[in-house]
Amino acid sequence: MDIRTAGVIGAGTMGNGIVHVFAKGGYNVVLVDVEQSFVDRGLQTISKNLEREVAKNKLTFEQRDQSLARIAGTTDRKRLAGCDFVVEAASERFQVKADLFHDLDAMCRPEVILSSNTSSISITKLAAVTKRPDKVIGMHFFNPVPVMKLVEVIRGLTTSDETFATAKALAEKLEKTPVEVNDAPGFVSNRVLMPLLNEAMYAVMEGVATPEAVDEVFKLGMAHPMGPLTLADFIGLDVCLDIMRVLQSGLGDPKYRPCPLLIKMVDAGWLGRKSGRGFYQY
Ligand code: CAA
Repeated sequence: MDIRTAGVIGAGTMGNGIVHVFAKGGYNVVLVDVEQSFVDRGLQTISKNLEREVAKNKLTFEQRDQSLARIAGTTDRKRLAGCDFVVEAASERFQVKADLFHDLDAMCRPEVILSSNTSSISITKLAAVTKRPDKVIGMHFFNPVPVMKLVEVIRGLTTSDETFATAKALAEKLEKTPVEVNDAPGFVSNRVLMPLLNEAMYAVMEGVATPEAVDEVFKLGMAHPMGPLTLADFIGLDVCLDIMRVLQSGLGDPKYRPCPLLIKMVDAGWLGRKSGRGFYQY
């Protein structure tokens, strides 16, 4: 199917980044969120990030304006009915996503692929709430979306080869590198990354080293662009905790237990960069 207009649900960090790359890639985009203030904030971030690319001579003023003109922000979910491909990037709660997939299934043309940017929720379970389980797939982008090259393309048990091929080709058109992964808790990225971040938190909690020292070890010793605690703050400590809980319940191995310090910080509302305080102050 010819994809011209993409629908993106969620104007938060991931959603606005996904809209950015679709609009820059020449697609019309319908951006939906539940409140106009969320839509407006998402559009402002896209504008700022496109400006960043203009400043670096990666984009012309004309390309920036054309990209922005391709985006329609709305709180009216029914506008997604006309889209040729949908990426859901709403909050990381199964019931929220399941309700959305149920509604999208009723609203979108039968041939439209419904994808989720979930970082850990089962694609197979989301597919099962629709009448098109063969056309449901995971497209997991990475933050900051305009910069990171990877898209983890996750096949649910029922995802068809045709759906996978379309999603893979689409990721390539967005100038990303798709990597095929099967549906399992945390997929590959978070199955491996989150236990690393969680273990770094244990090292801090047990007084092995300060957050600064742990981060220096990984930046200078392993050439990570950000140390694990800076990265945890960047991702959001609530998101890290949610993912650890998905690993713990989905895989059942005690090695996935969330660090008590992480739980305590989330309880205190210290969610990392977005709340102004996490392992560091912002
Ligand atoms: N939007 C668009 N562009 C951005 C950006 C943003 N939010 N943030 C940075 N950039 C661009 C900058 O403009 C700059 O572009 P040039 O290369 O053209 O100069 C480039 O990214 C590098 O930025 P900076 O020089 O300002 O800073 P930096 O060198 O410290 O890089 C970083 C910033 C790209 C974020 C880098 O620190 C990094 O790669 N960090 C690790 C990020 C990471 O691991 N992300 C994955 C998180 S996990 C996830 O997303 C999935 C999940 O499920 C939890």
